Amino acid sequence: MKPLSKQLLWASVPVALALAACTGQPEAAKKNHYEVKVGKEVVKTDYVVPGPTDVLGHENADLIVYGGRLLNDTKRLLPNNVGASMNCNSCHIANGKEQKGAPYINSYFTYPKKMPRAGKVVDLQMRINGCFQRSMNGKPLDVNSKEMHAMIAYMAWLSEGLPKGADIQMDVGGKINESLVPNPERGKQLYAQQCVTCHGDNGQGLKDARGNNVFPPLWGDESFNIGAGMARTYKAAAFIRDNMPMSVQKNGAWGQGGVLSDQDAVDIAEYFTHQPRPDFAGKVKDWPEGKKPKDARY
Ligand code: HEC
Ligand code: HEC
Repeated sequence: MKPLSKQLLWASVPVALALAACTGQPEAAKKNHYEVKVGKEVVKTDYVVPGPTDVLGHENADLIVYGGRLLNDTKRLLPNNVGASMNCNSCHIANGKEQKGAPYINSYFTYPKKMPRAGKVVDLQMRINGCFQRSMNGKPLDVNSKEMHAMIAYMAWLSEGLPKGADIQMDVGGKINESLVPNPERGKQLYAQQCVTCHGDNGQGLKDARGNNVFPPLWGDESFNIGAGMARTYKAAAFIRDNMPMSVQKNGAWGQGGVLSDQDAVDIAEYFTHQPRPDFAGKVKDWPEGKKPKDARY
């Protein structure tokens, strides 16, 4: 019988080969450490996005977990406030923790702030209710409700322990070259190649047997309304370039593989945002001071 060390050596050969075969494969998403600034001053260098179990033992754990559930399963848990077949996290990718995926990471300290669309100072409750009324085509939550407190507790938890005004240096995305001219015909073809399997021929998405969302709708009566940020060509384009098609990864994180070029994204976004979708009655009050962006829908 061979000495034990030799057996182990041979046993490890297939493992080594398997490992060698893996180089050249995309790397798994990295758990990044982010710098945190207040103004220009770096106040922390090693912020790590909290994982689901990090909430255990927190004195506010029940409320934070409830907030996380509401954001993830909004349509089912808050049917009176949600008109679309959509959850908050249909757009705020990976529980609002993913860079370039409209993260909530900095939301807690970003508000209140003056916003051009509202023409006034908007606090975090108003910002959340804006998404309820537009992106979810629904009704605002009572700002004093347990549900509103829970959602805010979840967002506050993401910045836990950071000083007031903290700005976590995560790329929140949303930027794309707005001088690109959209070609919706080309967008339609690309939609058929890259998006239709999940979001459907009529942009209707997919529901499970219980009627819950599997893939959210991109247009039609159950989608976001024309008042939503996602109804704007360039906002939608940046979002889909950085997050869609969901399953495909060439580099970096899940679903953030850089599959679409900027032009592809602008073409597809122009196509699906301009399909029929609900109107938004409150639109008459938007951009009261002008400065309306060129891709606004009204
Ligand atoms: C159809 C997509 C979509 C859905 C659904 C959606 N949002 Fe949003 N939300 C956005 C986009 C896009 C932005 C950024 C808009 C911008 O850039 O002006 C945003 C911005 C926000 C912000 C501000 C983020 C920041 O730090 O500035 C918060 C908070 C927020 N949404 C909460 C919610 C909540 C809560 C829900 C569910 C009730 C929700 N959103 C549903 C697309 C969506
Ligand atoms: C493999 C399935 C899959 C493919 C392919 C895919 N998506 Fe998605 N998409 C999703 C899922 C799942 C979500 C919801 C996010 C989540 O649950 O994390 C989503 C969310 C979205 C949203 C925000 C929510 C909404 O309904 O408006 C948009 C916009 C979107 N996708 C556009 C696209 C476009 C455009 C393409 C093609 C370039 C595409 N998707 C391809 C699965 C997919």
